Amino acid sequence: MNSQHHSTGWDAFQSASRFRRAIRKFDPAPIPEADLRAVLAEAALAPSSGNLQPYELHWVRDPALKAAIAQACNGQNAAASAQDLIIVVASPALGRLTAKAQLAHVESAANLGESTKAHYRKQTGLFQRILGIGSSALWSPLVFLAALLNPGLSLLPLGHVGSRNWAARNAVYAAQSILLGAAAKGIDSCPMEGFSATKLARLLGLPRGSVIVVVIALGYRADDARIEDRWRRPLDEIVVLHR
Ligand SMILES: Cc1cc2nc3c(=O)[nH]c(=O)nc-3n(C[C@H](O)[C@H](O)[C@H](O)COP(=O)(O)O)c2cc1C
Repeated sequence: MNSQHHSTGWDAFQSASRFRRAIRKFDPAPIPEADLRAVLAEAALAPSSGNLQPYELHWVRDPALKAAIAQACNGQNAAASAQDLIIVVASPALGRLTAKAQLAHVESAANLGESTKAHYRKQTGLFQRILGIGSSALWSPLVFLAALLNPGLSLLPLGHVGSRNWAARNAVYAAQSILLGAAAKGIDSCPMEGFSATKLARLLGLPRGSVIVVVIALGYRADDARIEDRWRRPLDEIVVLHR
């Protein structure tokens, strides 16, 4: 890839990144279904630990369900005025299912050598154990204690809370791809964590063990949508340069 290619990509990326703002009032104009489908296809390419993709993207277009979900988002206007909602749902069980599917894919892949297959078998086996017995609540008191003594261990993917946290963390990359991908298509969004998880889980029929990572409201910004100047901490406070 030459540098020209890179700089073209940069301009497009930067303009999408600058266009993306948390929009809380959307226009009644619908989003073409094909546009969102294309955005979701790119979001599916987001990275995840061990490629375990422990998430589902619930795409809600049904007006009645949308209205009920907006209610469950504490009646937030972003959700109520959104054209489409995408709810990012994660769980260790989805990671386990992927591990199985991935292993089957690898075993049947004609173009992979035996040593590559052996590597995948080993790695997938490890992940399956972590997401299997590792997600048992029996680990939870140990993880709690470990994190108390050494805060750096707070994100261990063990125990019922730790493994769900792990799944949620892995789903965030896909969520960000949705936000930026939508922006690249001129579609506005608002990521939301202000919702009742219990109500949403019931509305979506989620199995026990699922966590709702974020609700993404989508649409085109209304002419009178309030957009404040962007504020961020100074870059040299965010970036800690070691050199
Ligand atoms: C995980 C997450 C949860 C958020 N939850 C809400 C929310 O419930 N309601 C809302 O209006 N904005 C919500 N936001 C949007 C943030 O307020 C917004 O991204 C932030 O103020 C920065 O503004 P910008 O996105 O326009 O750059 C959320 C953002 C993230 C990443």
